[in-house]
Amino acid sequence: MLRKKLFLFLFTAVFFSCAQSKDPVEKKIDELLSRMTLQEKIGQMNQLTGTGLSGDMISQIKSGKVGSILNELDIKTTNELQRVAVKESRLGIPVVFARDVIHGFKTIFPIPLGQAATWNPQLVESGARVAALEATAAGIRWTFAPMIDIARDPRWGRIAESCGEDPYLTSQMGVAMIKGFQGEKLSDPTSMAACAKHFAGYGATESGKDYNTTWIPEVQLRDVYLPPFKAAVDAGVSSFMCSFNDINGVPSSGNEFLNRQVLRKEWNYSGLLVSDWASIEQMIKHGVCTDLSAATQKAIKAGVDMDMMSYAYINHAEALVKSGSLAEKQIDEAVRNILRMKFRLGLFENPYIEEPTEMPYYSVDALLKAKQTAIESTILLKNENNLLPLTDAVKSVAVLGPLSDAPADQLGTWCFDAESSHSVTPLAAIKTMLGSSAQVIAEKGLTYSRDMNAEGIARAVDAAKKAEVILLFVGEEAVLSGEAHCRADICLPGAQPELITALKKTGKPIVMVVMAGRPLTIGKQLEEANAVLYAFHGGTMAGPALADLIFGKAVPSGKLPVTLPRMAGQIPIYYSHKMTGRPAENIVTINNIPVGAGQTSLGNTSYHLDAGDSPLFPFGFGLSYTTFKYSDVKVSKNILSLGQTINVSCTITNTGKYDGAEVAQLYTRDVVGSLARPVRELKGFQKINLKAGEAATVNFTLTPDQLSFWNADMVKLTEPGDFQVWISADSQCGKPGTFKFI
Ligand code: GLC
Repeated sequence: MLRKKLFLFLFTAVFFSCAQSKDPVEKKIDELLSRMTLQEKIGQMNQLTGTGLSGDMISQIKSGKVGSILNELDIKTTNELQRVAVKESRLGIPVVFARDVIHGFKTIFPIPLGQAATWNPQLVESGARVAALEATAAGIRWTFAPMIDIARDPRWGRIAESCGEDPYLTSQMGVAMIKGFQGEKLSDPTSMAACAKHFAGYGATESGKDYNTTWIPEVQLRDVYLPPFKAAVDAGVSSFMCSFNDINGVPSSGNEFLNRQVLRKEWNYSGLLVSDWASIEQMIKHGVCTDLSAATQKAIKAGVDMDMMSYAYINHAEALVKSGSLAEKQIDEAVRNILRMKFRLGLFENPYIEEPTEMPYYSVDALLKAKQTAIESTILLKNENNLLPLTDAVKSVAVLGPLSDAPADQLGTWCFDAESSHSVTPLAAIKTMLGSSAQVIAEKGLTYSRDMNAEGIARAVDAAKKAEVILLFVGEEAVLSGEAHCRADICLPGAQPELITALKKTGKPIVMVVMAGRPLTIGKQLEEANAVLYAFHGGTMAGPALADLIFGKAVPSGKLPVTLPRMAGQIPIYYSHKMTGRPAENIVTINNIPVGAGQTSLGNTSYHLDAGDSPLFPFGFGLSYTTFKYSDVKVSKNILSLGQTINVSCTITNTGKYDGAEVAQLYTRDVVGSLARPVRELKGFQKINLKAGEAATVNFTLTPDQLSFWNADMVKLTEPGDFQVWISADSQCGKPGTFKFI
């Protein structure tokens, strides 16, 4: 018996090692690596920002000291630098050119938080494909996107780049972007390597202040922050990027648990891991490394393959290997991952970029997809007396507010290659749409979102008095969100609140459109406006999209990818919270406490006196011009066991007079667990189009694995017990079905 087992073991080992060596890319890597000097290997691990055809860059490339260049955008320069690498360096290894193409290259799509609000992965994938077609034409073959950090703190500026608060929705959106960027075949010249970032836990940054420390218990790290990254691995993402933050005191650029135990051992990831900009060097600032040599050693030991702009590896790795502090096989490992991506990109066969006569920017198809994405990313929060959509009975509108005609700000953050001259603003789009059929009176009032100028408010009020309806575009300048642009207070900036209050006094109906990079606390403005559309920053085609929605050529279908808090003091506030031992009830709010009341404990439950317990709007919320009725929720069985599945279905009827799209959301709750479980968790969604009066049945299949979580022993499993399940229009409404898992 033992002999048989031994034979089987040996056969398997030989088979698999042959299988690996049979992979043509692995064979090419083996062959190339065998010819590389230690210096050339370390050169591949060095990523520099572009400095054009500077002598220093050319000489470094020639001596094989540069593996990748980011932010080089001139095609002729890119091709010349590549020529030096391929023709003049000893081994001719091509350089990979990279850029942050986050939500479009030239044609700008809504910020990722807005794209997540579409709950339409296919549409989001098509947008990423547009970005790849445009960016690769400019020589970019590696984008540092998607950003799939779970973000539950709207004070954090980078929530704009995220897909919101939920692991499942973020996973779906991240995978869609990866597919769009990487295309069918990575070696296709119109494909670019995607990069799952920032690994990991960056969105948990304390107080919503960027680059801040995070404290994330492992169970939460694995249940909440890691799933989108695992989904990215399963989707074949070409690279990962470290996050700047530390997790429980360990900076990600030096985190062996994260980068070796989880990413390599548990997930068997074979892609490239690049640091963030100078994040290796920043381990000195973090106070975990004494100097750059120590940081180099820590990062390489932690499996960071490529050094973005710390100049650490290129200056210290060789000495560390020669002193025995690092083994050359650790360098080889990193270089393998880098070469693997370059081979898969086809750079050795096709290192150069074709210099087209006309750049494929702003195609009709691209603009249409950008517009459709902006339409579907807009969330209708309020529509008093069905004010919207406006009909052609309206003969005069006042188009007001600092975002009504702000071509650069509507693009949002992280779009360095955008050209705001191509933006179509709401004012321009409304003028085009109405033509001579109605009067358009334009007055920004406030010239930019932080403007405190009261005189402008008076002008806006005068304009409002001349019109039947006010179309008010408020929100944030693009610079108020994005990296390092965090806000402690997330109200409408400047004198915008005063502007809205002054317009309210005119008695004219107000359609308020919010264009921002984050959730804002708009409770008072919500009361003052008659209809509210939340559009985030909608990109190049934000104007035409909003015009179509306001005048009924499109029907809102967006759903919140993130909770809208009433007050910043409620943060963190998210739908998949724990029940606590005293869930909110008998809420007595601050203005209802009798003067002179004794020091009682009031409701004895979990809420804020001045905010209550609920958000302004919950995750998954969004209205339409039509209405949808959910009925006949059916759970296919009462008992679910391992190896089985359970079907959950319901009928959705369009009970209104407009055709529309609804996002049916599937939530579950593990009622009793070895750890307290969230009150709801998103497990699926379907976006369906229904004509007025039409009904359809949506079906979901649940598996036991989808109900699993990481327990206190760091084991992921589904525990026996009672479960609740919803198919609902948002994360708070609907009646649950029930079943047992045994
Ligand atoms: C930035 C960002 C990262 C980006 C990189 C390159 O600091 O943190 O998301 O990809 O540097 O621009």
